[in-house]
Amino acid sequence: MRRLRRTPALRSLVRETHLHPCALVYPLFLCPGEGVRKEVASMPGVFNLSIDEAVKEAESCAALGLGGLLLFGLPAEKDDLATSAYAANGIVQQGLRALKSSRSLDGLVLIADVCLCEYTSHGHCGIVSKDGARGLDDKDSYTIENDATLPLLASTAVSLAQAGADIVAPSDMMDGRVEAIRAALDAASCQNTPILSYASKFASAFYGPFREAAGSAPQFGDRRSYQMDGANLREAMREIDQDIAEGADMILMKPAMPYLDVIRAARERYDVPLGAYQVSGEYSMLQAAFQRGWLSPDRAILESLTSIRRAGADFIVTYFAKDAARVLG
Ligand code: PBG
Repeated sequence: MRRLRRTPALRSLVRETHLHPCALVYPLFLCPGEGVRKEVASMPGVFNLSIDEAVKEAESCAALGLGGLLLFGLPAEKDDLATSAYAANGIVQQGLRALKSSRSLDGLVLIADVCLCEYTSHGHCGIVSKDGARGLDDKDSYTIENDATLPLLASTAVSLAQAGADIVAPSDMMDGRVEAIRAALDAASCQNTPILSYASKFASAFYGPFREAAGSAPQFGDRRSYQMDGANLREAMREIDQDIAEGADMILMKPAMPYLDVIRAARERYDVPLGAYQVSGEYSMLQAAFQRGWLSPDRAILESLTSIRRAGADFIVTYFAKDAARVLG
């Protein structure tokens, strides 16, 4: 076996899995203001960016040849109905218009995350109703209302598509949301906007740093009544079946590294384009090791991304997108 490992040229010739910057997507967190570039404490190298700063960041992503950006918003106002998520002048809607007005960014696919948790005062991904007379601080006394949430998600997707999103990506995990979003997009003359569904999204401890970055931690309870139990691979396949049947054009698997077996199973079963999200906690734990000098960044970053591609992902959403593109040169 070692004959083909002898030189870099031989190893490169027989390499089975390749990483390309064009298949990496970089998340951006847009916030109000001007000249704002605020580092997220638990995610070194990741920033909350005002729109002017986000445009500069996007330009460096385009220059590195990245495939696209995934946009999240930190709104100025939150309320129980997530009004800022579907406002025509919402933070991501404004950001999309600014990014779309720059010719130099034409090579980047702009993906807008569709969820309510950054926009609701309680931090849940759907409408909350109280059960009976007990207060919201009783953890058993509330319900996340599935069907009442769907029109809000659909309005959010339409307003993001109208503001210029190339792709909308629902991450809320309500049942039936892909169908509701497809119908609303079509009715609003957005037939050409594809849906990238976070079809397989597990209730994960690895989202912790994101919730600091996006200010979206639930104020009570957790997300286990809508996101999947991490023990369930077959259920993930049923989620994907349903989303494809409802009209999802592409699917996103999340988290990535702790769920490589689920990515592999989905790859073998479905022919739609499949992405994986190397989430905030996966980034932060590697960063923590880099800061201590325990792991060597360039090699660990490429190895982690290669493992996700080898498991079957066509593209990867990752906070390491720019670093990886630099190393890949
Ligand atoms: C919104 C959303 C989350 C992430 C992506 N979209 C947070 C969550 O579900 O709590 C997590 C991404 C990451 O951890 O990097 N629902």
